[in-house]
Amino acid sequence: MRALITGFSGQDGQFLSRLLLDKGYEVDGLVRKTIGRTKKTLYRNDNEAVNLVYGNIISQEDMERIFEKKYDEVYHLASQSDVGYSFIHPYETYRTNFIGTFNVFKQAFKKNPDVKIYFAGTSEMYGNPLTKPQNEVYPFNPVSPYAISKLGGFHMGKMYRKQGYFVANGILYNHESRLRGKNFVTQKIVHGIVDYLDRGKPFEIGNIYAKKDWGYAEDYVYGMYLMLQQDMPDDFVLATGEQHTVKDIFETILKYLHIHYEINNEGIFNEDNGEPIAIISPKYFRPLEAQNYCGDYSKAKTILKWKPEVKFKELIIHKMLLPVLTSSNIHEYL
Ligand code: GDD
Repeated sequence: MRALITGFSGQDGQFLSRLLLDKGYEVDGLVRKTIGRTKKTLYRNDNEAVNLVYGNIISQEDMERIFEKKYDEVYHLASQSDVGYSFIHPYETYRTNFIGTFNVFKQAFKKNPDVKIYFAGTSEMYGNPLTKPQNEVYPFNPVSPYAISKLGGFHMGKMYRKQGYFVANGILYNHESRLRGKNFVTQKIVHGIVDYLDRGKPFEIGNIYAKKDWGYAEDYVYGMYLMLQQDMPDDFVLATGEQHTVKDIFETILKYLHIHYEINNEGIFNEDNGEPIAIISPKYFRPLEAQNYCGDYSKAKTILKWKPEVKFKELIIHKMLLPVLTSSNIHEYL
């Protein structure tokens, strides 16, 4: 089997490439020429078996060239995936996430009408759901350029599906790991607290009351793979079914490290010495917040036999904090 992963250098691309290589796939990883991050990956050895192909999904010419090769499966993960950034750079977000997705679908199906494509949809497409949990038929009501661009790609996938092509749409809730970029809140808090303990320097944070459903990225890429092993394409929610706030991330870490803390509207403080650990700043608030996420993954459980193996506390402590702590010198807190 031969697969292409667009967005190979991101967290999900890294985990997925390892999974596919383990399963004996020939894997091509699409990267933009300008990206240098692949060199720093934790899975260097595995990645050496991935054939890097260079191009940008916003270029029709690049996509025509990439899809001269025939793929059995395409995992379309490439996107401008930062929700906050999408408010500042909406055009770039729409162009990459919508036009880029169109270029991938068009060229992939032109070369091989039987190719199976995974499209990375997101819980952000729900906007601010009033009730929980949300499933595949819950109404979409996006409130960011990112979410609107993704919903466009999602419906484009459904349109191709109605014409007989195979597009599986994932509706993935937040999924994290030590490979996450530090612009995302879980990594920001883990590294921010470790830096505070090392150097006593506080960091800035936004809305600590935002509620999301956080799972482990490696579990979620397995769900993507399962979606493409089905006979029929469909839409699937991947989530944990648990809801936690950003504040819960702080509390989970600080309790684990036995640090006494106080949280108020100004920030998170070390109760023993009064020092700020994190200061709440309007800079990190979004013009519109999307929250109250909690996914119902029962369809994936029934059809794909998928379930999240790692829940919130294990994710934050064992999958994210401990790998950072072991490479720092603050073991006295453990
Ligand atoms: N990034 C960030 N930085 N978020 C903050 C901060 C901060 O300083 N302070 C509070 N938050 C809140 C955000 O307002 C949001 O409610 C929540 O923390 C999570 O933010 P992110 O980690 O940036 O992720 P996201 O939920 O916006 O989006 C991620 O998950 C989606 C669902 O899978 C991204 O990976 C999206 O691409 C993905 O679709």
